[in-house]
Amino acid sequence: MKGIILAGGSGTRLDPLTRVVSKQLLPVYDKPMIYYPLSTLMLAGVREILVISTPTDLPDFRRLLGTGAELGLEITYAEQPSPDGLAQAFVIGADHIGDSASALVLGDNIFHGPGFSGMLHRSIEGLNSGDGCVLFGYPVRDPQRYGVGEADPQGRLISIEEKPAAPRSDRAITGLYLYDQQVVDIARSVHPSARGELEITDVNRVYMQQGSARLVDLGRGFAWLDTGTHESLLEAADYVRVLENRQGVRIACVEEVALRMGFIDADACHKLGERYGASGYDAYVMEVAATF
Ligand code: DAU
Repeated sequence: MKGIILAGGSGTRLDPLTRVVSKQLLPVYDKPMIYYPLSTLMLAGVREILVISTPTDLPDFRRLLGTGAELGLEITYAEQPSPDGLAQAFVIGADHIGDSASALVLGDNIFHGPGFSGMLHRSIEGLNSGDGCVLFGYPVRDPQRYGVGEADPQGRLISIEEKPAAPRSDRAITGLYLYDQQVVDIARSVHPSARGELEITDVNRVYMQQGSARLVDLGRGFAWLDTGTHESLLEAADYVRVLENRQGVRIACVEEVALRMGFIDADACHKLGERYGASGYDAYVMEVAATF
């Protein structure tokens, strides 16, 4: 399975924070935002990852993540000249995907909860046995801000709408999408919406009409965090801080995820912590490696 992290957009809702820094590089407590979606893909076992961002911001992502080799990954980069919609990720990423299944995660989406890795693996297995796409639904108070879906008792998606004025359910469709091999052709076939974007919801609707779209519920014990406003960005950082300080483990520490997923060994992990060795984060990476 190939992965894409879409980390473009103009981030205007966070102005002036995002005037000279990409939104997806802003800190969420102790690490850059993109570490969270990157670790989501890694937990799904995805190692070949395309990072898409604006021509201005792409060099910063490259500086942060490099080739990915240190984490046992292959990270490549592509430009999205203007924010023409989430579905454009598949047009830009067509060569990267080839004829593989793929996972798209939005660079500003933070997922954290028990059993997440297992849920991802089961969902990927679903793609091998008839599901065309797997979406993840999360109950929210304000569904009109999101893509909103409904599923039948078997988990088949039966309705989907983008930012509906009168939502048919409280299930927001989160920014993590798993697709079979058809997605590039489907993305190429959708037309810009009234707001001028290639909507991921239109791609998902094609799968729904095929009867092959699954909606998995993330459930109430799970955290899907928003980073779209100053307030929600701070809340996300607080969530991470509280859990990390209470439990002594770090969320979305990509070095630890690489180690636990078997992408790198303990020696390599230790070296990553030693590289600067100056922060509590670095000390944690070394400690995880030493006790693995
Ligand atoms: O976060 C989940 C939601 O993401 C879904 O529920 C919606 O169905 C989906 O349309 C999307 O809604 P948003 O209103 O959050 O989309 P937004 O335009 O804010 O873009 C999400 C992120 O993707 C944001 O960090 C910017 C980036 N982006 C966006 C567009 C349109 C790009 O990198 N390129 C783009 O072309």
